[in-house]
Amino acid sequence: MTAQQEENVSTPGVWPAEPDLRGWLGLLQQRGELCRLSAEIDPDQEVAAVLEEVDGRSAVVFESVRGASFPLVGNTVATRENFSVLLGCSPQDVVRRLEAAISSPGSCQDVGLADAPVMAVHETGPDLLGDLPLPVQHEYDAGRYLTSALLIVRDARTGLTNLSINRLQMTGPRELRVLLLPGRLRSIFDASEQREEDLSIALCLGVDPALVLASQSPADSHIDDLEVASALHPQPLEVVRLPGHDTPVPARAELVLVGTITAGERAPEGPFGEYPRTYGPGGPAPVIRLTGRWRRSDPMLQTILSGGREHFWVGGLPREARLLRALEAAGTKPYAVRLTEAGSCRLHAVVALRGPRPARRPTLPWRSSPR
Ligand SMILES: Cc1cc2nc3c(=O)[nH]c(=O)nc-3n(C[C@H](O)[C@H](O)[C@H](O)COP(=O)(O)O)c2cc1C
Repeated sequence: MTAQQEENVSTPGVWPAEPDLRGWLGLLQQRGELCRLSAEIDPDQEVAAVLEEVDGRSAVVFESVRGASFPLVGNTVATRENFSVLLGCSPQDVVRRLEAAISSPGSCQDVGLADAPVMAVHETGPDLLGDLPLPVQHEYDAGRYLTSALLIVRDARTGLTNLSINRLQMTGPRELRVLLLPGRLRSIFDASEQREEDLSIALCLGVDPALVLASQSPADSHIDDLEVASALHPQPLEVVRLPGHDTPVPARAELVLVGTITAGERAPEGPFGEYPRTYGPGGPAPVIRLTGRWRRSDPMLQTILSGGREHFWVGGLPREARLLRALEAAGTKPYAVRLTEAGSCRLHAVVALRGPRPARRPTLPWRSSPR
């Protein structure tokens, strides 16, 4: 890190007047952590190559992506320090701040259609995906993927909202396939399939990193993830009810796709380059059929580089929080818990304990047993 960056880290940033992706990018620009690329760039692996090159150093706005009508941004949070700026706390306190938001979520603020920037344009045409900048990230990926969409569903059983990020392969102008690993979304979908009902969903593209972080919070069915996101923001999160949908969505998103995950249907998806920087296999996956989209008049789309630091950290921080809680519950006094980038923020943990004492030599059963 440069001296300037270190100074910026020690004074947590203040969210700008607009708590959304654009506001966040403005803050990164002030910190010298955003570059804009005006030259035309190929979505097929070139976008990913640039993001990989500056990973951990800079966010990149691709102003002209070949074949797309809108710009694209990647690497929007790439360091632990970025999260401290985002959450307005010191880097050491990031995990405790996240813990506090999960244990004490905050209410959202409902806004009307006229006050929601994402409701500016409504489209229902035959092609809802073709003009979006959807990169092919890795050589052997099965196709073009959305990697940063917040998938929002309302659990009919509890009325609570679940956020998740899932790899979404584009398989048609109105069709995506989604990888659903075991978790809360999968259980919500399983329940709706048992009722033989399609599951109504919204996919939010272009949201600020606090929303992305909230989407990775633990799978507890009593948590409303939008309220976790709200508690991570400086003011209550503004949400809007889409006409004809029961899912509230962030009013300041850039673009929202709506549709359903169809009950009883599976089709091939993958393979795709995953977070450990190896390929995740392909297989039969649920199918999403899109029916419409809402967007700002000039939306900016977003991609998360799969296997990049943004992917590591947005999934790693909630895991650190969970590990910290589990260690405390087990009666230890952890000073700090860190997942390492070398382990993709998933596979290696380093734990510092307060006042650790060497364990007493255990009495081994074969020593105490009579000879
Ligand atoms: C960039 C990124 C991609 C992810 N891709 C998937 C995926 O394809 N399938 C999946 O089940 N989880 C994926 N995850 C993890 C889930 O978003 C995460 O575990 C979330 O908390 C799951 O929520 P749920 O338990 O509410 O379903 C991804 C996470 C990130 C950050």
